[in-house]
Amino acid sequence: MKAKMSVNRTQGIGTVDRRLYGSFIEHMGRAVYGGIYEPSHPSANQAGFRQDVIELVKELSVPLIRYPGGNFVSGFDWEDSIGSRNQRPKRLDLAWRSIETNQVGLHEFAKWCQEVGAEINMAVNLGTRGLDAARNLVEYCNYPSGTYWSEKRREHGQEEPFAIKTWCLGNEMDGPWQIGHKTAKEYGRLAEETAKAMKLVDDSIEVVLCGSSSSSMPTFGEWELTVLDQAYEQVDYLSLHQYYGNPTDDLKHYLARSLDMDQFISGVVAMCDAIKAKKHSKKQINLSFDEWNIWYHSAEHDLTVKPWQVAPPLLEDHYNFEDALLLGCLLITLLKHSDRVKIACLAQLVNVIAPIMTEENGSAWRQTIYYPFMQVATLGQGVALRPEITVDSYSTSDFEEVPYLESIAVMNDDKNELVVFAVNRGEENMELSLDFSDIQVTEVSDFSEMSGHDIKTVNQPDKEQIKPVKSTAYEQKDQQIHCLLKSLSWNVIRMSVVPKI
Ligand code: AHR
Repeated sequence: MKAKMSVNRTQGIGTVDRRLYGSFIEHMGRAVYGGIYEPSHPSANQAGFRQDVIELVKELSVPLIRYPGGNFVSGFDWEDSIGSRNQRPKRLDLAWRSIETNQVGLHEFAKWCQEVGAEINMAVNLGTRGLDAARNLVEYCNYPSGTYWSEKRREHGQEEPFAIKTWCLGNEMDGPWQIGHKTAKEYGRLAEETAKAMKLVDDSIEVVLCGSSSSSMPTFGEWELTVLDQAYEQVDYLSLHQYYGNPTDDLKHYLARSLDMDQFISGVVAMCDAIKAKKHSKKQINLSFDEWNIWYHSAEHDLTVKPWQVAPPLLEDHYNFEDALLLGCLLITLLKHSDRVKIACLAQLVNVIAPIMTEENGSAWRQTIYYPFMQVATLGQGVALRPEITVDSYSTSDFEEVPYLESIAVMNDDKNELVVFAVNRGEENMELSLDFSDIQVTEVSDFSEMSGHDIKTVNQPDKEQIKPVKSTAYEQKDQQIHCLLKSLSWNVIRMSVVPKI
């Protein structure tokens, strides 16, 4: 199969916000206890956090981490997680029917985030709690000193404010499973007033309003329009959540799930702008896709997990090669919307539907999806450029035209580098010709690919067989690059360019 792609500076979508490569740690399963924190592990640092995990998170280059949930946050009393550890209560976590020991709390997590170089995206409990607890938490975290909660923080060893900038107004409040589930009207009012009070404490913060838990919720659309109509002027972002499964085990259909994400984002952008127009507002609401990933492998196992354990293994999906290909398509889709999607969180980060897995007292290892995420997070910086692509397509039950090539380019003018990320969804090799009208490419500095694996192959603790390898299947001719994108492959092509004048 042949494909053509032309990349042009005039096709700029937007500057990629670093927070597009965020992730998520929830107090659930083995994400915290037995994941990032295992005091008895040989690599544990003085605070009990696993250094091997810290290194993998750093390599992944995650700038922002949503915390502490998730469904968990809707029953969480943040005050349980501060102060002397031996006085912190053990609680029933009703969301996951587990026991929460609170041994890792706000201060410990903030310290860990500092180590991995990420900021916290803090969620407040709008399920069992509300405005009062939320505004106190902002005071505790962000107010310098001299008030009840800021002094408590200082007593607990943190003199300077944590200065948390991004806050989520609850979690999936449209979901009947959510503790304290609300109607759109109830939530819209609560979110509006909570945001107002939080911003009165610290007007530099940004807040995220809950959108739908997925585009297939029966209230999708109505929910967005109602909550935006109510809270528009108090909030900065609207959230989207979506997890992809593979119920039919049909590869073509599965790899087209990113078109579903594309439609979801476009629809939510349209709803934000409709409310903006209705209100004659000057303000633009951007999107926070603060939970996205693939989630289906662990579903059966999770039904067998006994309740009321501390850190039981939950949602431990083992990702295979086809999942890595889809994850690449999803990342490309987020970049295609980088004008409006400013924050996104791969849910989650360690052990729970995660790119990083750990063994108790053993190794920390990278799943197949780790690699496309790491490559895009480290190399996808600058301005996203929408390429013009000519390629064949196929149809599925949901989409008439699914292009065999999914791709995006990102121009990094600080590094004089153009990077193309590309997935060949087809089972045939693809000869791709890349041309650049107003960009002078000097050379291909690196071309890596993930290809040639059985789609069901997974990585294992001692066997990371799925990872990028170098490709030499390209040549440069008359301002064009001709390269081979192997059948079913994830590709990253880095090119040096002549600086923009
Ligand atoms: O990420 C796992 C769960 O998925 C989160 O707790 C919840 O917000 C979503 O339904």
